[in-house]
Order: sequence, then C-alpha cells, then structure tokens
Amino acid sequence: MKNVFPSPHPLVAHKLSILRRADTDPRKFRELVREIAALMTYEATADLATKPNTVQTPLGIASGVELQENIGLVPILRAGLGMVEGVWELMPSAEVWHIGLYRDEETLKPVEYYNKLPILPTVSVCLILDPMLATGGSAVATIDILKRWGVAKIKFVGILAAPQGIMNIHDHHPEVPIHLAVIDETLNDNGFIMPGLGDAGDRQFGTG
Ligand code: PRP
Repeated sequence: MKNVFPSPHPLVAHKLSILRRADTDPRKFRELVREIAALMTYEATADLATKPNTVQTPLGIASGVELQENIGLVPILRAGLGMVEGVWELMPSAEVWHIGLYRDEETLKPVEYYNKLPILPTVSVCLILDPMLATGGSAVATIDILKRWGVAKIKFVGILAAPQGIMNIHDHHPEVPIHLAVIDETLNDNGFIMPGLGDAGDRQFGTG
C-alpha cells in the first residue's frame, strides 16, 4: 500500500520479537522501545531536506550539510513518551510537543486531555510517535490537530499496527507516511492489536 513502510531491517525484527514477549520486564521493554524508535526514525527521516555548508576539519575545508527543517516530535501520551529519548539521540535539537489522548474503553474513540500547542506552528516537520496503531483513532485525531496547527509535513512513526489503523489514516490523511516495525494480523474485540504485545503504555510504566 502506498505510503506505508514496514521496516525491512533485521535489527528491528529481532528487537521487536523480544519486545512482544510476555516475560519482557518494564525496564527491558523501555530500552527496546527507545532503540526501535531510533531505528524507525532513521528510516522515516531519509527524505529530510538539507542545505549545504562547509566545515573546517583539522586538515582543510570539507563540504557538508545541515538539516534545513525544524523538526517536532509529537509523542501521543502515554505510550509515545518512551519513543522520545530514542529519537532525541539522533536529533537532539528536535522540539517535543506532547499530545494527551486516551482511548475510551467502551467506544474506542480518542479523548483529548492535553494539548499546549502555541497558536502558530514552530516546526515544519512533525514525527508523531506512538508505538501502537490500533483502530487509528488516536493517530487520525493527532494528525487533525497538527494540520489545524499548520504543520506542512507530518509522518507517523510507530512500532506495531493493525490493518484497520493503517486504513483509517489512509482514508482520512492519505498523504501521511506511516513508518512501522511491523503490521500485525488484526484487532481483537477489545481493540487490541493481535498478536501484538499487550498494552504498550502499561508495559512501559509498569501499570498493567
Ligand atoms: C493506546 C496506544 C495508542 C492508542 C492506539 O493508548 O498507546 O495511543 O491506544 O489506539 P487507537 O489506534 O485505537 O486509537 P491508550 O488509550 O491505551 O492510552 P495510554 O497510552 O495512556 O495507555
């Protein structure tokens, strides 16, 4: 499908298999989320614009580049928080703008509870960070928020997705690229990705 990029990388697949295991403890789980987030970001940022510059090396002048765009990381609370550190290791100057959404357990619809975006956008590219793309309601709501804010370029960076969530983004925002570690089979009756890894928020924060 257009604009959907499951990772082809064996390191991602290896780490994901450990992440899924029911006996992976919260400390290891957080470490893996951080590492996978960095690897996913490497893939998701391959088309970032750069501008040329020159640098003085100890021996002479070399031509180089610097990133041209202001990048915003947008973790969806809570589970997206664990991805921020991994991405920051690659892009330490990226701004972080948190969006608080939880999924109503009955309706599975996202409920917004935190959004402190200023009136005018401060970044030109946003990477939405959320390990789980289930029904896609949270991702679509976040993309809506960022578009209203005026962000020109938006990408979704996740870990696990159900086909239903991908279709939901695709139906509402077909131009938004979706970068994932893997696409799973489906959702269960409670809206959990199957076979999935359980609840990514609870598993990171030890609240399950
Ligand atoms: C989970 C997950 C995503 C969302 C995905 O969050 O981390 O944000 O659900 O579901 P969707 O694609 O159907 O919208 P949850 O609501 O459990 O909140 P939490 O991260 O605070 O635990």
